Amino acid sequence: MRVPCLNLEQDRERTMIFSSPFVISFLLLVSVPVLFVLAPRILPPKTLPSIPDRDEMDDLALFRRTTLASSGAGGSGGIRRRTAAPPKIAFMFLTNSDLSFAPLWERFFRGHERLFNVYVHADPSSRLRLVPTPSFSGRFIPAKATQRASPTLISAARRLLAAALLDDPANAFFALLSQHCVPLHSFRFTYDAVLADSGAPPAAHGDAVLRHRYRSFIEILAGEPGLWDRYIARGDNAMLPEVSFDQFRVGSQFFILARRHATMVVRDRRLWKKFKMPCLKSREDSCYPEEHYFPTLLEMQDPEGCSHYTLTRVNWTDSVGGHPHAYRPLEISSDLIKELRRSNSTYSYLFARKFSPDCLDPLVELADSVIFRD
Ligand SMILES: *[C@@H]1O[C@H](CO)[C@@H](O)[C@H](O)[C@H]1NC(C)=O
Ligand SMILES: *[C@@H]1O[C@H](CO)[C@@H](O)[C@H](O)[C@H]1NC(C)=O
Repeated sequence: MRVPCLNLEQDRERTMIFSSPFVISFLLLVSVPVLFVLAPRILPPKTLPSIPDRDEMDDLALFRRTTLASSGAGGSGGIRRRTAAPPKIAFMFLTNSDLSFAPLWERFFRGHERLFNVYVHADPSSRLRLVPTPSFSGRFIPAKATQRASPTLISAARRLLAAALLDDPANAFFALLSQHCVPLHSFRFTYDAVLADSGAPPAAHGDAVLRHRYRSFIEILAGEPGLWDRYIARGDNAMLPEVSFDQFRVGSQFFILARRHATMVVRDRRLWKKFKMPCLKSREDSCYPEEHYFPTLLEMQDPEGCSHYTLTRVNWTDSVGGHPHAYRPLEISSDLIKELRRSNSTYSYLFARKFSPDCLDPLVELADSVIFRD
C-alpha cells in the first residue's frame, strides 16, 4: 500500500516544482531565444531573399581592388590623352541563358579587335548550351546567382563594371547588354557615336593631365507614375536619410557609362547600403532596384555628365508582368530595324531589345544589307 502513496507524493512534488514561479520564469526565458530561432522557419519571411553575405564580401574585395587600381591610374578615371591605346568600349553581357545572338555580335565586332572588349556575367545556375563563339570565349567573369526583383542584378552589373575597369585601362565606355539585345548599326557607327560625344563640361582640374569629359548614356527620369511605390518597396522610411524621395530616380537598366562613372559606381558604399536591402514581399510588384540604383546615384553625383536617355531601344507596348515586348522572327524586317533606330534625342538608338532567340537567322540575313549599313 506504500507504493500508490509514494506516487502521490512524488506527483505532488512534481506539481510543486512545475508550478513554482522560478521554473515558469525560467521556461519563459528559455522560450524567447527558441522562438527567435524557430519563428523565421515557421512564419513566412516578410522580405524577398537578400544577397548572401559571402557574395557581398567577395564583391567588396573586388571593388576595393578596382578602386585602388583606378586611383593609381588616372585618379577620377579620366582618360589621359597620352595613353597609347585608343579608347575601347567594354561590351558587358548580363545573361542567365544562351548568348543566342553571338553570331550576329561576331559580325558586328569583326575587324575592330583593338577597339573593344567583351565581358560576360552568366548566372552560375543556368546551364548554357551554346559553346561561346570567339569574341565571347574566355570572357566570362566570376559570376554569382541573379534573380528578378532582387538587388542581385545590380551586384552583377557592378561586378561587370569592376572586372572591365580592372582588366583594361583603355576601356573608356561600359555598355551593359543582355542576351536579348542586338546591335542596330555597324561597329564603326556605334563607336563614333559613343566617343564623339563630349556634351559634359570639361573637367575642372587645374593639373597638367588633359581629360576629355565623356558623357554617360543613361536614362534618368523623375516624376514617373508608380515611382513612390518603387521608393517604398523596401519599407516606408527605408531609404532615408541617404536617399529622399525627391532624389529617387528611375531609368532603363541598360546604359553606357563613361569610365569615371563606372569608377563612381564601383566605389559607392553609401547608396548601396540602401539599395541592397531586399524588398518587402508585399511590395514585390514594385521591386525593380536595378532600374533605380544607377540613375539615382549618377543624378546625385554628376547630373551634367549624363545624357538622361538610353541608347537601347525597348518596346513596352502591351507589356506583361514587367516584361517588354519580345520580337518574333515574323516581325523582323528592314522597316523594323529602321523604326527601332529612330529616337527623339540627337542620337539614333544603337541597340534594341528584346528579341527571341529564333530571331537570329532573320537578323543575320539583314546584317550586311540593313543593320551594318548606316
Ligand atoms: C511594339 O510591340 C507591339 C506589340 O506589343 C507591336 O504591335 C508594335 O508594332 C511594336 N512597335 C514597334 C515599334 O516595334
Ligand atoms: C517620341 O516622342 C513622341 C511624343 O512624345 C512619342 O509619342 C514617341 O513614342 C517617342 N518616340 C520614341 C522612339 O521614344
